[in-house]
Amino acid sequence: MRDHSLEVHGCNHYDATGAISTPIYLSATFRHPGFKQSTGYDYGRVANPTRDQLEAMITLLERGGRSWAVSSGMAAINLVFLLFNAGDHVLLSEDLYGGTVRLANEVYGQYGIDFEYIDTSDFDLVARHIKANTRGIFIETPSNPMMLISDVRRLAGLAHAHDALLIVDNTFLSPHFQKPLTLGADIVVHSGTKYLCGHNDIIAGFVTVKDKDSAVAEKIEFFVKSEGPNMSAMDAWLMLRSIKTLGIRVEKQAANALQIAQWLQTQPQVTHVYYPGLPEHPGYALQKAQATGFGGMLSFKVQSAELAQAVLGRLHLISFAESLGSVESLLTYPLVQTHAEMPAELLARTGLDDKLLRLSVGIEDVEDILADLAQALQG
Ligand SMILES: Cc1ncc(COP(=O)(O)O)c(C=O)c1O
Repeated sequence: MRDHSLEVHGCNHYDATGAISTPIYLSATFRHPGFKQSTGYDYGRVANPTRDQLEAMITLLERGGRSWAVSSGMAAINLVFLLFNAGDHVLLSEDLYGGTVRLANEVYGQYGIDFEYIDTSDFDLVARHIKANTRGIFIETPSNPMMLISDVRRLAGLAHAHDALLIVDNTFLSPHFQKPLTLGADIVVHSGTKYLCGHNDIIAGFVTVKDKDSAVAEKIEFFVKSEGPNMSAMDAWLMLRSIKTLGIRVEKQAANALQIAQWLQTQPQVTHVYYPGLPEHPGYALQKAQATGFGGMLSFKVQSAELAQAVLGRLHLISFAESLGSVESLLTYPLVQTHAEMPAELLARTGLDDKLLRLSVGIEDVEDILADLAQALQG
């Protein structure tokens, strides 16, 4: 099956009733038929039938070997960071969701893991920063919020040549547009809160590994069982429901985003537009080669910080809010929201400043989004 069909039908597992909508199994525990016998379900932290269906769905969409559905994107990233040990060196994209930087520096940093941030869209730079103890490369592509594109295939080759894992945060594109495991990555993580959910009503996360029988899969399974970050059955059902429309949502969002990016380029108040679907974007060709779409995220800079802040207060249709990927358009001010705790040195390196706005394009009529942006920019 192709992507739209997979998103609707998943693994086509129907229970004895034939219910088309996956049942929600709200059971914390499961009866055993007898001593040393199990239905396959014993206790909800370890496995739940609704969550199992969702995990199977994500595995199919990412073309992976095994997935875990957890309570947030940060819970997913935490499971991956648990794979590293004191003394390990991990390279990360320097343009990265601020919460990931906080988890790395302020939580795992205290356990002796050495996290280093570099521009992973520059392959040669990454190659020069590999050390004997480098055990992981963690990237966002496109990156958040500067929309830089990193070469998943080449980075996977580099990581594997040095006995390291390539981990891709695939939140910005969703598996509908990009399947990093097919490009050589070892692990994909998601904030499922974003495109996979698409309706701003669940906080969720996913980890998917390439090989279900690998040592990495075994470790993550053990961490999940031991720490209990699992997604609830109710949220798993909502997520399955959301994924049925993933393809049509993200395609509409990407089509809207391209038009908006082109329009922003013509606006006198706008000084920079960052969208990989614009042919002049430095990552355009690479993005075309490794993904099937450019996504619904874009950032832009206006003439002054005062104007950026005024725009946020003048919006009508678009909401000034954190997060991304939903059917509603959201405008974010990364400096004080998603990247508020980013070290100043990283902000300076990436160019994230007080003039930057990040737009998560929704599925509204593009004319209405443009009209709202036009009035907000003009004041
Ligand atoms: C790219 C990216 N990864 C991870 C996360 C964390 O996800 P969550 O908020 O679901 O914990 C976010 C949140 O904004 C994000 O944008």
